Amino acid sequence: MNKKFFISPSILAADFSCLGEQIQKALIAGADMIHFDVMDGRFVPNISFGIPVIESLREKFKDTTFDVHLMISEPERYIQDFALAGADIISFHFESTYHVHRVIEKIKSFGKKAGVALNPATPSFAVKEILDIVDVVLVMSVDPGFYGQKFIPSSVRKIREIDAMRKENGLKFLIEVDGGLSDENLSNVVSAGADILVFGAFIFKGDIQSNIFLIKQELEKFEKT
Ligand code: DX5
Ligand code: ZN
Repeated sequence: MNKKFFISPSILAADFSCLGEQIQKALIAGADMIHFDVMDGRFVPNISFGIPVIESLREKFKDTTFDVHLMISEPERYIQDFALAGADIISFHFESTYHVHRVIEKIKSFGKKAGVALNPATPSFAVKEILDIVDVVLVMSVDPGFYGQKFIPSSVRKIREIDAMRKENGLKFLIEVDGGLSDENLSNVVSAGADILVFGAFIFKGDIQSNIFLIKQELEKFEKT
């Protein structure tokens, strides 16, 4: 079976003084999309960047898939802005709104892919009722807020559970894993059922090209099996 994995570098760990160049390097090295971590200082204890940054990068990278991870309270208030700024996948947190269906519908109404993200302490069954309407389930393997944190091992079991629900129901959503990924835990996460892999520090805190090369090499083993 030929399975395709997607590498989604998180620019949160990039050098913001030359962000465009860093993204360019990641894409040339083989990144499949770019991961944008939007933080509001409320849902998570950190503030990152928002709509204008995505908008200006969209001007420069017209054909790149923008994977936008909203770590903000009441995401329903900003879906339109992120959609118009150029997001392709918009993921919001299950824990950040009372109205999960409504947010998913709003994302889809702009023709965008809808993702629902789960904090490490949120069990897999929380998303059971929405699995048939999402495009992506984003499993956080650290508590959101910062790059460079330690991978939480129980995330692997959660990925496996979500993959099992996907198979049981013949569904097609993708499983994205985000937080503390490296060459050390990559194979566990991929064997458990992950499709989209987010790397912050592992890619950007070092040589971007050789780090992506390393990930691709590791993934090739799984793509061929
Ligand atoms: C955490 C973010 C992640 C993070 C990934 O709040 O959602 O995307 O920046 O960075 P690493 O891979 O360094 O954990
Ligand atoms: Zn993220």
